[in-house]
Amino acid sequence: MKKTSILVTGAAGFIGFHLTNFLLKKGFSVVGVDNLSPYYSVDLKRDRLKQLEGHSNFIFYEADISNKKMMKSLWNKYEFKKIVNLAAQAGVRYSLINPFEYIKTNVTGLLVLLELARFQENFENFVYASSSSVYGKNNKHPFSVEDRVDTPISVYAATKRMDELLAHTYTHLYNFPTTGLRFFTVYGPWGRPDQAAFLFADKMRKKEPIHIFNNGEMQRDFTYIDDIITGIYASLMRENLKKNPYRLYNLGNSHTVELMKYVELLEDSLGIKAQKKFMPMQMGDVKATCADIAQSQKELGYNPKTPVEEGLKNFIDWYKTYYKI
Ligand SMILES: NC(=O)c1ccc[n+]([C@@H]2O[C@H](COP(=O)([O-])OP(=O)(O)OC[C@H]3O[C@@H](n4cnc5c(N)ncnc54)[C@H](O)[C@@H]3O)[C@@H](O)[C@H]2O)c1
Repeated sequence: MKKTSILVTGAAGFIGFHLTNFLLKKGFSVVGVDNLSPYYSVDLKRDRLKQLEGHSNFIFYEADISNKKMMKSLWNKYEFKKIVNLAAQAGVRYSLINPFEYIKTNVTGLLVLLELARFQENFENFVYASSSSVYGKNNKHPFSVEDRVDTPISVYAATKRMDELLAHTYTHLYNFPTTGLRFFTVYGPWGRPDQAAFLFADKMRKKEPIHIFNNGEMQRDFTYIDDIITGIYASLMRENLKKNPYRLYNLGNSHTVELMKYVELLEDSLGIKAQKKFMPMQMGDVKATCADIAQSQKELGYNPKTPVEEGLKNFIDWYKTYYKI
């Protein structure tokens, strides 16, 4: 008899770790998969996993989602009726350097999971991470899931859009429920070292200059991790699967913050003044993001609550504890 579990890929990653923790606390059984990619500190990924080890309902497999044979062997052991695919090669900037890794994980990896899941009897929901990056050159604000998204400006964004198109195809062909989540710059404790809050805090702690792109003229819809987790959970459990088997949702905070304000808040929380190096716009980056979350509010009851002041303070509290500052 196969054990029924939720499959969370990218379980050692920032969002995957928090989601797994949340699901375990709710009493679900979770199988976590991650290949512990060296894109950023593997020690940090292992430390996240250590936090999950105590749960008897959790099992972790170090595996690559694009390896069909390996993933199939998991299907032989477990019954996965719900999947949350958060494994990815993330990061806009690195996609200029190593675009092939994005196709391998974000496209082939997703396809492997879709192909396996479609043969699962009574399959319930395939949730996967997309990104606000899919809005590309769209300059109509806020970004709505109704907007056209055929102008990606990075390979990362293009692969996330491909995920949405593949999901649409599978829903159409096999009447298979899929839910794509467009996350807007997620931050918080146990965050990613390649993202602004962590990157800036590291540089400030080491008294090195922080690079501020587009001369600081950037705005982001920063979304706190706990808000994202409630959104993912609501998407996983959504009740409109029959009526709307294919769905996309924006999960943002819907309040745009100036990058310079974000830096100021970090300086206050850390108690260190940043040395700032102003730089031109980076290739592949967008100047501003802002989520229209009306549909997520209406259909998922998604209601982000954490102001950036509070969220950044929580991040810095964690950061100081983690690095024993
Ligand atoms: N954090 C954000 O602000 C943000 C914004 C938009 C979209 N997203 C998306 O959300 C998802 C989770 O992002 P995150 O911030 O937790 O990133 P993360 O890099 O911390 O987590 C992704 C995890 O996937 C793993 N992984 C990479 N390639 C793999 C492979 N081939 N097989 C198995 N595991 C693999 C990595 O080791 C990592 O632990 C990703 O799909 C990302 O693109 C994140």
